[in-house]
Amino acid sequence: MDILGIGYLMFEALNPAEWRAFGTDILGMGQWTPSQDNDGTVYLTMDDRRYRIAIQCGSEDRLATIGWEIKNRTGFEDALRKLERLGVAYTLGDPALCQKRGVFQLARFSDPVGYQHEIFFAQKWGYRSFVPSRPGVAFDCGDDGDQGIGHVVLAAPSYDEELENFLKAVLGFSWYGYGGGPNVGFWNAKLSKRSHVIAYVKVPGMIGIQHLGIFARSLDDVGMAYDAVLSNDIPLQQTLGRHVQDPIISFYVQTPTGCALEYCWEFERFAKLGFETIPERISLWGHKRVGPIVGPSVRPVKTNVLEQERETVNASK
Ligand SMILES: [Fe+2]
Repeated sequence: MDILGIGYLMFEALNPAEWRAFGTDILGMGQWTPSQDNDGTVYLTMDDRRYRIAIQCGSEDRLATIGWEIKNRTGFEDALRKLERLGVAYTLGDPALCQKRGVFQLARFSDPVGYQHEIFFAQKWGYRSFVPSRPGVAFDCGDDGDQGIGHVVLAAPSYDEELENFLKAVLGFSWYGYGGGPNVGFWNAKLSKRSHVIAYVKVPGMIGIQHLGIFARSLDDVGMAYDAVLSNDIPLQQTLGRHVQDPIISFYVQTPTGCALEYCWEFERFAKLGFETIPERISLWGHKRVGPIVGPSVRPVKTNVLEQERETVNASK
């Protein structure tokens, strides 16, 4: 599939207003407000796209959907043919859902673990529409927004051949490496210019998002967000630090969902190697763990399966 990256993320939350305050006051994101039919969903902006992260009211705090951006209409049609050829069950977004997402067309399906994915093309945007909540803050979603939000790391009860096949054969991702160790698999999208867009970490019996990574355009943006985290006593997961495999300076802060958010700055463009490496250490300096590496967003499988079944029922209404 001609996937660029994560175009949007949908969360469910008991209190979306917590995410509004976190996204704007702490992270510096902007907001988009629907002119009509607002059901209480909070839309956070990172660039000129209508939104990048949306938080809708739900019965628990969790990641609901990963929205993968396909390059264009013909790429989307190719992707649907691929899903059919490989026997992956999907549903096309009806006009109401496409309007709610702000995209031309989407298709929805699940991965073998149970996470919900959507592929889409043509998301709404406004020329020079981005207004950050902290003056001067700019997010790096790639030139013209083509690289999207960044990455997600998801817990999986098992990391097996079926999941690998889904990532390789269905989504068309390429293997990046183990990163932190043998229980984590990092993958990259076909048209991504970064090192990875998704990782699954094996956590027996558990499911849920462990962290998401977003990118700012300068070290100052990272520093100002770090100050906002510290001055508002928001729990940190890892202090400011510098990764080795990626040219990234970042810190990890706990979100209202309970997962961490890695606030990154890519200090030089990621240069792909033609072979796989494994670092002696993940970080050159910093990234001291000061909070749980797996937060309350990662829960026993049974709970989330029930939630997903309930969502499927609701979606079919
Ligand atoms: Fe990360």
